[in-house]
Amino acid sequence: MSRSAKPPGRSDPASLHMPVMVPQVVAGLVTNPDALYIDGTLGMGGHTRALLAALSPKGSLVGFELDTAAFAQVEPLRRELGSRVTFVRGSYAGLPRYLRELHVSQVQGILLDLGLSSFTLEQSGRGFTFRRDEPLDMRFDASRDAPLSERLTLWPQEKITEILQLYGEVRRARGIGAAIAGRARTGAMRTTFDLVEAVGEIAKGPEKNKTLARVFQAFRIEINDELRTLETFLGHLPALLVAGGRAAIISFHSLEDRIVKRFLARESVDCICPPKLPICECGHVASMVALNRRPLTPEAEELAANPRSRSAKLRIMERLP
Ligand SMILES: C[S@@+](CC[C@H](N)C(=O)[O-])C[C@H]1O[C@@H](n2cnc3c(N)ncnc32)[C@H](O)[C@@H]1O
Repeated sequence: MSRSAKPPGRSDPASLHMPVMVPQVVAGLVTNPDALYIDGTLGMGGHTRALLAALSPKGSLVGFELDTAAFAQVEPLRRELGSRVTFVRGSYAGLPRYLRELHVSQVQGILLDLGLSSFTLEQSGRGFTFRRDEPLDMRFDASRDAPLSERLTLWPQEKITEILQLYGEVRRARGIGAAIAGRARTGAMRTTFDLVEAVGEIAKGPEKNKTLARVFQAFRIEINDELRTLETFLGHLPALLVAGGRAAIISFHSLEDRIVKRFLARESVDCICPPKLPICECGHVASMVALNRRPLTPEAEELAANPRSRSAKLRIMERLP
């Protein structure tokens, strides 16, 4: 246990994370209140609770959560909501397999609220925040692979720099990458504050916190393979939805939103051959349509009540017949 990390306690999951854009998600996703819905990122269950309230007694929901500690926190909600919900500890990328196991082929709606919950950020004690000294882990699924502290000792400096550039668009990534790699080589990269100190060798003054946020984001994305997980899910998405079924995806940074946007651009047209080909050779058929040209963003009232919602972007899409 780190010097200041608190062990996760049991409390009402709703008090541990404020869900974003709830009315927009419910209005956009629920087209048949009698049907089955998926919450691919349960977190503390705020969206699940709202979705279930919009369904009829015949409607049901399956929720997925990868993080064991978050899953344990949301367990009381499963008991409270009763037999209309099933909670699965696993990745939304594995949805086709999990649904087969539940004898379900297609669903009416799927929600993804990407990233991490306030619970994981502030109370997991696994190094997601640069504001407290905690073991440098950053895995959502702490039963797999190795924590960030170990991975940093194995990655060459070039790889560390590339992660910072690609997933954090970190300024002065080369210098910061060198400082992190140098410290990791000496075995002094065990906690979040070790990482903070390494970054602080290069990023100073008012820039420091912004840089730290980007560095932490970059390593979190890498260690949890977040972008590839989203791409894997999108590859399965059209086949998982009934005709007219919908997906709602909330992203919190441009890398995720770009992946969803590109997916929609590709899946909403019948041919994806290079423009110079005179006739279509790909045979691609449009499978999805975006319901909004631009992503929806939180209203001013929500931004005031929940400043963490400020970077949320919601895209709603529908399965074509
Ligand atoms: C922003 S939170 C969701 C908050 C939730 N909508 C609520 O109302 O409380 C994202 C959650 O997704 C989980 N998560 C991240 N990657 C996942 C994955 N591949 N599969 C399932 N859950 C994942 C995180 O552990 C986190 O709890």
